[in-house]
Amino acid sequence: MSDKAILEIGGEKYELPTYTGTENEKAIDISKLRGTTNGVITIDPGYKNTGACVSGITFLEGDKGILRYRGYSIEELAAKADFLEVAYLLIFGELPNQEEYDRFHSDIKKKSIVDEDVRKIIDAFPKTAHPMGVLSSLTSALTAFNPSSVNVDSEEDMYNSVVKILGKFPVLVAWTMRKKQGLPLDYGDTSLGYVENVLKMMFRQPHEEYVISPILSNALNKLLILHADHEQNCSTSTVRIVGSSHAGLFASLSAGISALWGPLHGGANQAVLEMLKAIQEDGGDTAKYMAKAKDKNDPFRLMGFGHRVYKNFDPRATIIKVAADEVLGDLGVDDPILDIAKGLEQEALNDPYFVDRKLYPNVDFYSGIIYRAMGIPTEMFTVMFALGRLPGWIAQWREMRLMKEPIGRPRQIYTGATERAFIPVEKR
Ligand code: SDX
Repeated sequence: MSDKAILEIGGEKYELPTYTGTENEKAIDISKLRGTTNGVITIDPGYKNTGACVSGITFLEGDKGILRYRGYSIEELAAKADFLEVAYLLIFGELPNQEEYDRFHSDIKKKSIVDEDVRKIIDAFPKTAHPMGVLSSLTSALTAFNPSSVNVDSEEDMYNSVVKILGKFPVLVAWTMRKKQGLPLDYGDTSLGYVENVLKMMFRQPHEEYVISPILSNALNKLLILHADHEQNCSTSTVRIVGSSHAGLFASLSAGISALWGPLHGGANQAVLEMLKAIQEDGGDTAKYMAKAKDKNDPFRLMGFGHRVYKNFDPRATIIKVAADEVLGDLGVDDPILDIAKGLEQEALNDPYFVDRKLYPNVDFYSGIIYRAMGIPTEMFTVMFALGRLPGWIAQWREMRLMKEPIGRPRQIYTGATERAFIPVEKR
């Protein structure tokens, strides 16, 4: 705690304590405001100015486009780290040494088998089902097959739940995609690395050996790292608040997947590709879509642009844009969609509407172009976002439980009808 804040309301003055974080961010502690002021609360739709918690996991500085996981810059991690070591870093707070890494990976592989009865659940879905809805359902269903994952009162229980979901989730991701493609649902190969195994489970064709492509595994490794955590975004806040009722980890993650599905959040990466394809089919008429995005009477938004926190470039978008050129070049893919995206970015960065509102490309603007070049179906893009975000959700949920945070239960200001007597139907 540091200096005080003074609140004056109704002729009374109140002193409120303040927080200063390790990056000198300041907050007014209003945890006792209602009691101190005899009922006054704050209100902040969308929590644009409200901190839900203190956290030591991820730091964002939106005006400078800074993103760090446990103090390490996203630029360094994306260039030098392996996704599983970033997962370990986010969840346990430190980069693992080789022994810790190997044990973590070994424990994950031991728990990566999914009960065969889960196939009956996935078989019940129509092929037209959106993969995010399937994934959310399967993730919640995992609780039924792993009941001990609900009670995580000990570090050991928590660790066991963590390695179970890190092992089983990639299988659910692969099965969700393969089910839609009519391909057999199988497992990969535990002799492979975590990311390589994801690719094999997703793409292995039943009648041929799957050859690991370093281009694809490096691209996926980078994308998963870039999506791994992002402090108190919509889906992470959902995971934390569901977990605050002491619901199990898998149920909390299932809720987070549903929140991520929305086109204003993780669903934007699919919406961006659909938007770019529409522009392409429209003869590349970017001006028309820019006008729609600026028209207050048109619900259309330039998907992949804007961010609640970043009022400068999203550092992840900057990295992904460079990676898109590299990956498509390495794969020998010449995708006109990438040129349309770059053209749109240039137009927006020179348009007062976007400049004045500090709307820059976010993580979702270019990521789909790489997924598409990798052969991942558009409907699976947000599932890939969820796969990357999994360790962040786990880390945040674990932190919330270890800090013994109270159940999340916001207040409100009532604006409905005041008290009135019941009127029998014959008199209405
Ligand atoms: C993610 O929070 C996170 O960290 C999320 C995320 C993560 O890693 O977890 O980074 C991942 O969700 C990235 C965002 C993906 N969503 C999109 O790309 C969808 C398009 N973007 C917007 O819907 C919007 O920018 C949001 C939802 C991302 C942010 O919305 P805010 O902060 O609530 O801002 P706002 O809606 O109040 O907009 C402010 C102004 C408004 O205009 P005015 O009323 O001031 O005139 O900017 C305009 C908005 O109309 N605006 C846009 C726009 N985004 C904002 N106008 C056109 N196109 C857009 N994309």
